[in-house]
Amino acid sequence: MLRRIRDWLDDRTGFLTTLAPLASHLAPDGSRWWYVFGSATLFAFLVQVVTGIALATVYVPSAGEAYASLQFISTAAPFGRLLRGMHYFGASAMVLFIGIHLVRVFLMGSYKYPRELNWLTGVALLGLTLAMGFTGQLLRWDQNAVWSTVVGAAQGARSPVIGQWVVSFILAGGTVGSATLSHFFALHVFVVPLLLAATIGLHLYLVLRHGISEPPVAGRPVDPRTYRAEYEALLERSGRPFWPDAAWRDAVFGAGAIVAIVALAAIFGAPKLGLPPDPSIVQAQPRPDWYLLWYFAVLALLPHGIEDLVILGAPLVAALVLLAVPFVSNRGERSWRRRPWAPAIVLVAATMIGVLWHAGVQARWTPDFGASPLPAQVAGVASGPALDGVAVFNARGCLFCHRIAGHGGTRGPDLTLVGDRLTRTQLTVRVLNGGYNMPAYANNISPSELDDLVAFLESRTSR
Ligand code: HEC
Repeated sequence: MLRRIRDWLDDRTGFLTTLAPLASHLAPDGSRWWYVFGSATLFAFLVQVVTGIALATVYVPSAGEAYASLQFISTAAPFGRLLRGMHYFGASAMVLFIGIHLVRVFLMGSYKYPRELNWLTGVALLGLTLAMGFTGQLLRWDQNAVWSTVVGAAQGARSPVIGQWVVSFILAGGTVGSATLSHFFALHVFVVPLLLAATIGLHLYLVLRHGISEPPVAGRPVDPRTYRAEYEALLERSGRPFWPDAAWRDAVFGAGAIVAIVALAAIFGAPKLGLPPDPSIVQAQPRPDWYLLWYFAVLALLPHGIEDLVILGAPLVAALVLLAVPFVSNRGERSWRRRPWAPAIVLVAATMIGVLWHAGVQARWTPDFGASPLPAQVAGVASGPALDGVAVFNARGCLFCHRIAGHGGTRGPDLTLVGDRLTRTQLTVRVLNGGYNMPAYANNISPSELDDLVAFLESRTSR
């Protein structure tokens, strides 16, 4: 009976006759565990599709209700917490796997002839994945999400000529509001996923067309004139059917990844929502999710003068470099042992991202709103203006950004010995006028408070 249904279906559609050879096509032997990260990315993407659809059935993409609907999902909706958690960890897994896959393909020279377009579509998939991350973050619609988008828009605004257009495109108007949310929702749920799915289709088609790359062997370079014949001969000699000989690893690893995503989601849940968005509160610490945190560190640590150049230039250069890879070298040795530049580049890039990431986690450039107040002994006197100045320093929030005798934030310079550097007048002017990344206090501080504060700072000398 089942067989008759199968035969009927196959006769009318031809699916089985078309697909069966795909599953059993020969793949090079020895393509072991390093080859599972591409398919693992696909598994993570499927998790995102399923959990994303489930979340979209409850989420309300309107500025007034988004936050409340997410709270409902996180606390009350059946499986809501788990689904949000899976969507978050699924996104993390997707970025992680796509990164490892990229490094693997680069190190093994798998992008060389005839697989240049596999690489280019892969770079497009990386860009689209990051676009999913950026647009998805705003849908959280809490204080940090909104401010991260404002930061993104502020970067876009610096583009020459098209700056204004970029901002209106990102924000769908002059400020972050209801239109922005609808805009991001449409991008995150329809536009980018469709592009992703189509590009994945193309990428997989190319993988089938050119076959899985054989593990590189030092001393056996790629020559476009002979490569295909050699590849065919290799398959004849030692090829294995893709299913199950090669694909069982993909299945095992993919299943393991999904189990890990579910487990992490069940244990940790989704990231906690911040405060509801309020554009009048600037005390937010816009912080992207971990996979963009390192880039955030780049933006925060840049010297003032070259910000524009780097903010616009760096992503552009990164994209161009990635796109140029198969054009720079699409032949020759594939083994990394004969391409010392390849591991060197990966090592440098990984170290750079690691260091920046560490800086991003510490975020020394954001005010430390949890800093413990300066104790009165710091004044060094039992009474008088300098002692009152300590209280002003704490009360006016100087503490959040400045460190004195080991207390306070690190956003601004350490003021432990500021009396050595600055005169009374300079200190007064600085507090009244503020500075780069320091607010002006002229309208926020009474003359007597100012006197006390300056007296205290003046007393901070090494003498
Ligand atoms: C939001 C963070 C922030 C707050 C709050 C803040 N500052 Fe600053 N402050 C900075 C930064 C950043 C600089 C460096 C500015 C520059 O280089 O233009 C700075 C510079 C200074 C300097 C000059 C230091 C030097 O060595 O040149 C003084 C003095 C100073 N701040 C005092 C204060 C006092 C007093 C308060 C509280 C009334 C205060 N700051 C509040 C961030 C802050």
